[in-house]
Amino acid sequence: MRPTDSVARQPLDMTTQRKILVTSALPYANGPIHLGHLVEYIQTDIWARFQRLQGHECYYVCADDAHGTPIMLRARQDGIEPEQLIAAMHKEHEADFADFLIGFDNYHSTHSEENRQFANEIYLKLREADHIATRKISQSYDPEAEMFLPDRFIKGTCPKCGAEDQYGDNCEVCGSTYAPTDLINPVSVISGAAPVERESEQYFFKLSDFTEMLQKWLHQGHVQPEIANKLNEWFEEGLQDWDISRNAPYWGFEIPDAPGKYFYVWLDAPIGYMASFKNLSDRIGISFDEYWHSESDTELYHFIGKDIARFHTLFWPAVLHGAGFRTPTAVYCHGFLTVNGQKMSKSRGTFIKARTYLNNLNAEYLRYYYAAKLSSGVDDIDLNLDDFMQRVNSDVVGKVVNIASRCAGFINKRFDNQLSASLPDPSLYRELVDGGASIATEFERREYSKAVREIMALADKANVYIDENKPWALIKQPGKAAEVQAICTQGINMFRVLMTYLQPILPQTAEKSAHFLNSALAWTELSEPLLSHAINKFKPLMTRVEKSSIETMIEQSTEHLEPEQKAAETGGALADDPLAAEIAFEDFAKVDLRIAKIIKAEHVEGANKLLQLTLDIGGENRTVFAGIKSAYAPEMLEGRLTVMVANLAPRKMRFGVSEGMVLAAGPGGEDVFILSPDDGAQPGMRVK
Ligand code: MSP
Ligand code: ZN
Repeated sequence: MRPTDSVARQPLDMTTQRKILVTSALPYANGPIHLGHLVEYIQTDIWARFQRLQGHECYYVCADDAHGTPIMLRARQDGIEPEQLIAAMHKEHEADFADFLIGFDNYHSTHSEENRQFANEIYLKLREADHIATRKISQSYDPEAEMFLPDRFIKGTCPKCGAEDQYGDNCEVCGSTYAPTDLINPVSVISGAAPVERESEQYFFKLSDFTEMLQKWLHQGHVQPEIANKLNEWFEEGLQDWDISRNAPYWGFEIPDAPGKYFYVWLDAPIGYMASFKNLSDRIGISFDEYWHSESDTELYHFIGKDIARFHTLFWPAVLHGAGFRTPTAVYCHGFLTVNGQKMSKSRGTFIKARTYLNNLNAEYLRYYYAAKLSSGVDDIDLNLDDFMQRVNSDVVGKVVNIASRCAGFINKRFDNQLSASLPDPSLYRELVDGGASIATEFERREYSKAVREIMALADKANVYIDENKPWALIKQPGKAAEVQAICTQGINMFRVLMTYLQPILPQTAEKSAHFLNSALAWTELSEPLLSHAINKFKPLMTRVEKSSIETMIEQSTEHLEPEQKAAETGGALADDPLAAEIAFEDFAKVDLRIAKIIKAEHVEGANKLLQLTLDIGGENRTVFAGIKSAYAPEMLEGRLTVMVANLAPRKMRFGVSEGMVLAAGPGGEDVFILSPDDGAQPGMRVK
């Protein structure tokens, strides 16, 4: 490995084909993908696509991080097995990533056979080399739930400032950090019981055995300067042994020769990178060992958020090295997403799930915006929604796509789709092609914002050319047809260059463009313009961002009510849990379902999602608040029949008492469908 000044770099000879393996951090399987996560997956995907465009062999793998206490408890709470929870989440995550055009070569799970095998193998090798120690430690234990408690599952009063309801590791009010045992009146989040201290034997990875190795690794430029500074601080504090075991009950892999002890989720999580690649390599027949045993021919990169740098720059390289595997070529850390300058927030509607975004906006808008903001540093990046709309509209739609739409019509209609035999301004064309070298360097260095700036500067030049040559005016003059054809040929060729540069960022628009150009977009073939070539009919490539779509997305992401009221508002059918707990027949029989006639439907002052319904269930009227405003206007409902739960205990809500619930189906937002029996049912009829 060649040491460099900043970050470990690719071989300087750009003509050799590199063999690259790229990963993004594995998202936890207990929650949905949100726009914060997407900073990372979009950043990595752009890089992987760029490498492939340069002709390199590049694999991009990821997986769900499926183990740990929160996943175990979430499954328990939903009344399902952890396997069911992670299977449902896997499906959801995969669909979200696919729709954001994240081109994984493989998306696996840490709860997989490959991962169990690698986790065991690595652990046993570390043990053999004497890098594992055992000792008894005392930890907080929940005597009611009968389990040891992670710090995050203990709450109490802050010992420093007295703020109530603070987590066991740090206070969100005064910011101080402490041990859970320091909390005043600590309680278990799981059962509410006061935790007790209990001793048990744990397994430790002796990280300090690797101090020298890690210090050397750090100075070889495998991490960004900011992270190197952080690492130096950790070295100064001294490297502590790392507890890699957890007591039952735990959701994960049992440690070999240690019944009742499980690998801590962070031990087997990064091993999931290997497991996912193993699964891929077996499937498509490439060599696993070439990528994980030798450092001479292949490169390994991990893209991660700054919150998990310690795991990837201390523990992970040490574990790999200790178990006889290669270490990463580089770990690339990015900052956190803020929205409109602030932390993502459910009450402000800026905690935006991938799916909510996709229901309203095109994935490529966000890919472009993130690219326009991303650099190689670890600074946070801000999604400012006004700026987002303005930039996408003015750059992508207004500058790039516009070049094609200004020129295509003439070629399609006047010249039978034929481009001219030569370019009227070859030196301008050359300038755009020559710009590619510097743009490629910026992509390679993850300075996407610089790449985007350079691409847009070239787009400006292309637009100036068209503005000055005015094909729309020229076409009206007799004898100028050939000139118009040539100007448009120049424009379309410049569009081809720009779209090729944007391909890693906008793969879908690039694909549509390739179809329109009737030619694949190949970075390395741009020096040859398309001449005497037939293109296809131009179809709009991308529409503008609408402000109303952003507003709807924010509205759909806003939580206005207390959690309990929120549940009443959206109803079980609309909650995002993958599966509800199984119920007995007797439980179902308790539900009194009735046909109800909606005699009145009204807006509720101050409520964003609710309509107030007056329901007739055969002589008796009920008032029900239903969270269906995004799907129905009141006048659409009056006079219709629906099904209601008639024996639900009345609930006091902010806007009044709700005396039941109406049944509806659908994913939410505009797609909520009141169930509506229309074959001669009468108000008051029982539903079975
Ligand atoms: N499961 C661990 C990673 C294990 S990797 C062997 C984890 N999961 S996570 O779902 O919490 O986060 C996945 C990635 O998304 C992490 O790199 C994290 O830094 C990143 N992000 C999560 N929220 C983010 C923002 N708000 N902004 C930017 N990145 C964020 O950590
Ligand atoms: Zn405090």
